[in-house]
Formats: sequence, structure tokens, C-alpha cells
Amino acid sequence: MKQDTKTFYVTTPIYYGNGVPHIGHFYSSMIADIIARYHKISWYDTRFTTGIDENSQKSVLKAEEEWIKLEDYLDNMAIIHKKTWDDTKIDYTDFIRTTEPRHHALVQKVLQHCFDKGDIYPGEYEGKYCVGCEAFKKDEDLVYFDRKNKKQVTDTSQIDVDEAYDDGDYSVFADAEKNADIGKRYVLICPDHLTVPAVIREKNYFFKLSRYQTWIEEFYEANPDFVKPDFRFNEVKAFVGRWLEDFSISRETMTFGIPLPFDESQVTYVWFDALFNYYTSLISSPLWWVTEENDESHFWHRQDYSQNKILHVVGKDIIRFHAIFWPAMLASYFDLWKIDSDWVIHFTDTDFSRLPNQILTGGYFTIDGQKMSKSIWNVIDPVEYCATYSKDLLTLYMISAFPIGNDGDYDREDALRLYNAKLANNFWNLVNRIVVLSLKLDHQLWEGIEDFKSLNWQDYNKYMLETFWEAWENICESYILLDDVKSALDWYDLKWALDTIFVLLDWLNKFADATEPWGLLKTDTKKAEIILFVMARRIIMISFYLFPFFPEKIAEMYEKFWLTDYHAYLQDWRLEELKVKPESFQITEKGSPLFERFDV
Ligand code: ME8
Ligand code: MG
Repeated sequence: MKQDTKTFYVTTPIYYGNGVPHIGHFYSSMIADIIARYHKISWYDTRFTTGIDENSQKSVLKAEEEWIKLEDYLDNMAIIHKKTWDDTKIDYTDFIRTTEPRHHALVQKVLQHCFDKGDIYPGEYEGKYCVGCEAFKKDEDLVYFDRKNKKQVTDTSQIDVDEAYDDGDYSVFADAEKNADIGKRYVLICPDHLTVPAVIREKNYFFKLSRYQTWIEEFYEANPDFVKPDFRFNEVKAFVGRWLEDFSISRETMTFGIPLPFDESQVTYVWFDALFNYYTSLISSPLWWVTEENDESHFWHRQDYSQNKILHVVGKDIIRFHAIFWPAMLASYFDLWKIDSDWVIHFTDTDFSRLPNQILTGGYFTIDGQKMSKSIWNVIDPVEYCATYSKDLLTLYMISAFPIGNDGDYDREDALRLYNAKLANNFWNLVNRIVVLSLKLDHQLWEGIEDFKSLNWQDYNKYMLETFWEAWENICESYILLDDVKSALDWYDLKWALDTIFVLLDWLNKFADATEPWGLLKTDTKKAEIILFVMARRIIMISFYLFPFFPEKIAEMYEKFWLTDYHAYLQDWRLEELKVKPESFQITEKGSPLFERFDV
């Protein structure tokens, strides 16, 4: 652990353990991974938590369905999930399971604390519950399904009210078909799971979210970047603006989960349990390198909060839990609020900084125009996909095709075409040009231009402009753009960063096209050498920012250039040192291509 550095803590959602991760899950994990890698090389002490959400009714149902003992089922799923992230080289620090004792202990401590201060109270709950979402549903969250024509009703004005059945006393859509004799034609179903929510009437404990109305609003005002992208934040604010209601945090009818410490007949409802995984992961790290300074004070409660960033990467489906429930729950646990003379609860400024900095919200994507679904065989397994094609292809396409936050469609052919254009052509072509042409020299690339190499920045630029005119002007601009790439990464704008990097590479290719070093090699060797040298130097600079996206290929490229210690520098988080390190690259052989074209 690096004590005096800035810290960065990033998380993915902990995915439900009742299924195998698909590329939707991979998408969030990959985003977190790239952001974590960028922060590591930039000298942030970085911690990256992912894991599996186990205390869910879904797991129980699934284990029953498969006739497996619940614990065995969970162990097996945890192995599969962890293996998925290992096989796809997601470089997490901690993989958390919510059945672990460390997590039970924390959640019970939090519950007791919030109960003691009056933020949790018993009540009676009646409402519709979708097991697929693990969430209570209001009618406006549901859609009508026409059982006769077997499709969702888009125009509700067609519905004959007498035919509408909205009291779900059967829970699964499949059952609805069997029970056609119930007689009603239209049923209200969850649009995501196509199931009829169960109606639940039971004693529950509630969290007093309503009490946090004003300070949530204050918190948002003080943290205008709390939710990204902005349009998602606006949705959240609009939701909060319609007034917050207390929400149920326990279930009476379930036996599996974390029991409430003050009423053992109830178990904690999944979200109160699941969200706190982000905190559990810090308070009792199972890792060997934990030092006296524990992770909680190091990654969360820094004395100087400006030295610390906390980021949650999530999908749009779980934004309300993260943007509304989560800060309120933390505020309750950390005692962040006080009641002033008007009985209004609010934060003090410094207390705001004890909450996560940002919720980065990804959109949802479909595959070849359709929602991923096992029944139509279009679920993409990231492990299989990476083995057949490559992780680089997935990364490139998913980052370039969708700005984080937008929904999109994963078009398999487009993905291959993009890979061919950007990585096999643009990038590899550039590296290859430099390698092949410099091997034609009878000495190392920089040996014939020692005087040029030692020019100071101004003389160097002057020389380049006088010699190459417009061909060089573009490249000049690229120096500024590379700084913008860095800022984009600081803002988690991965698409902008990657797109811009490819523009820079494109310019370098154009510089070569305009100056034609291959022709000059015979007529003006020195000039040709300068062109190749300058290009190699630029590409090395650019590669630092490609590294978080394609770490393996960039490491391979360093080997091609005999920059054997570069990878170690980056792994040791010393990007800034590398930037000012005098290059000592050597090109000795052609070797195999970094990226090869796929047939489309
Ligand atoms: O919600 N496109 O788990 P979950 C993009 N356990 N992203 C997708 C996607 C798609 N088609 N499908 C899933 C849970 N995702 C809770 C989280 S966190 C304290 C608890 C991704 O298994 C996206 O990140 O349903 C989404 O938020 C997440 O998977 C939901 O995973
Ligand atoms: Mg889900």
C-alpha cells in the first residue's frame, strides 16, 4: 500500500449469482477495469472491488430448481463468476461474496446502528414484488400484457378495464399461460422480466428515507457530478422531486439472508445488504498486504478528502438504488446529518465528502438488435468471445460504439470491421511501418541523427516546421490533444479518450503518407530517419494512454521497440517518470503482427 499517494476506489455492481455473467456484466467490469488501470499508472493507490450478490431469493429458487444444496450452488456460482473475471483479465483487487462472515458482521452492525437512531422502524407492507428485479413495483413501473395475442400492449387505451387483471396472485408468466382460465385478458407484468409480480402483505422493517428528502437535495446540489451522464442525474432528481417514500429493508417470508439483529424472524432485504458490499470490502480485507493503516481509512475516510476518489460503475437498471438509497443509508450509518431548529435535516459541507464521488451509469445494450435472452441463443459469453476473437475487440467495440450511458446495439459484424480498421490497420500499420522501414537502416534508428535528437523543444519544432510544413502542423496540434486525452480519462470519458487516440494515430499515418520516408531512405537517409524517429517517439507517448485499454498488446509493442523496462514502469504506476525518461528504443526484428485482420 502506498501511504502518501492519492487513493482511488472503484467498484462494479456485484452481480446476482443465479446466472453466469454475460457481456452486459462484462461491460461494467471492463469499464471499471480500464479506469482502475489508468489510475494505477497515474500513481493512485487503486483498489477495485467486484463480487457476487448471493442473499437473494433468486439463488434459492434456482438451487431448488436444479436440485442442488444451496451452499453448493452458491459456491459453484462464485467460482464461475470469479473465473469469468480471471479469464477475461479483469484485474480486480477483491472479489466479495455477500455470504461471507465479514459482510454479515458489517451489515448487522449497520442495521443495529440505524435502528438505534430511529432510521429503521417496523411496519406493514403491502405491494407488488418482482423477484427478477428484487424490487417492489408500482403500477406505473409495470406494463400490460395481452394474454390472448401474447404480446405487450403499447397502446393502453385499447384495454377494456373489465378485462384487465392487475392483482398478481400468480407469480410467473409461464403460469399465467397455464392458468388461462383465470379469465382476464390483460395482466400487469414487469417489462424486464415478463413476469407477473407477486403480491406481498407482510410485516417489514422500513428505512426512513423520507427523512432524508432535503439533504439528498442539498447533497445533489453540492455534488453536480454525482451521477454521470447528466441526463441520468436529471432523471434521478426528478424522481426525488416527487418525494421520497420510506422503503422496506426486510422480508418476513424469506429464510435465507442476513437476519436483522433486532428481530431475528426477519432477513435483510437484498439492497440494504448488497450495497454495503462496497464498504465491507474495505473494512476487513482478506488480502495479505494489509498494513497497520486499514483500507477503510485509506480508501474511504481520508483525512484530506481531496486525496481520495470513490467511483461506482453501474448499469442504468440500478441507478435509483445507488444514487438515492445508498447515500442516504451511508449518511444514516456515518451519522452525517443533524437536525436544525426548524427540524430540517441537513449535512455540513465537510460531511458530504465522506460519500462516494460518482455513480457512473452505463446504458443497456442489445445483441444484433435483440435483447439478450437464453431462449433465443443470443447471450454472449465473454470468456468464449474473448477466446474466439479477442478481448481487445470487445473492449474497442464496446467503448467506441457506445458513449457510457447510452443504450446501444452490439452488432457482431460491425465489431469485426471496427477492429480491422482501428487496430489491425490504423495502429498496427503505423507500428509496422516504423519497424519495417527502420530495419532498412544499417544502424539503430537514432544513431544517425544524434544532433537532431539533442535539439531543445523550440529548435526541434522549428526544424520540423521548416522541413515538413503542413505535414508537421497537424502533429503539433496532437501534443495538445494528448493532454485532453488525459483529462478525458480523469473524467472517465473513455469513448472520447479512445476516439481521440485513434485520431492522433491517424494523423501520424498521414504524416508518413505526406513525407514518404520509404522513398527518402535511398535519397535522403537522414531525413527519413528523422521522420521515423519522430513517429516512433510519438507513438510511444500515445501508447501510455492506450495501455489501460489494451495492456497486453502495448506491452508487446514495447518489446518490439526493445523498451523492455516500460511495462514494468507502468505496472509500478510510474507513468509520469516514463514521460520524461529519455527514450532508448531499438528495433531489431520484425516479429509477428500485433493485431491481425479478421475475415468479415
Ligand atoms: O442488479 N447491458 O445484479 P445483476 C449492459 N445484484 N449492462 C448490463 C446488461 C445489458 N444488457 N445486463 C446486465 C444486480 N448488465 C444487483 C446489483 S450492486 C450493489 C447489486 C449489467 O446481475 C449492468 O451493470 O442484475 C447492470 O447494472 C448489472 O449488470 C446488473 O446485474
Ligand atoms: Mg438485473
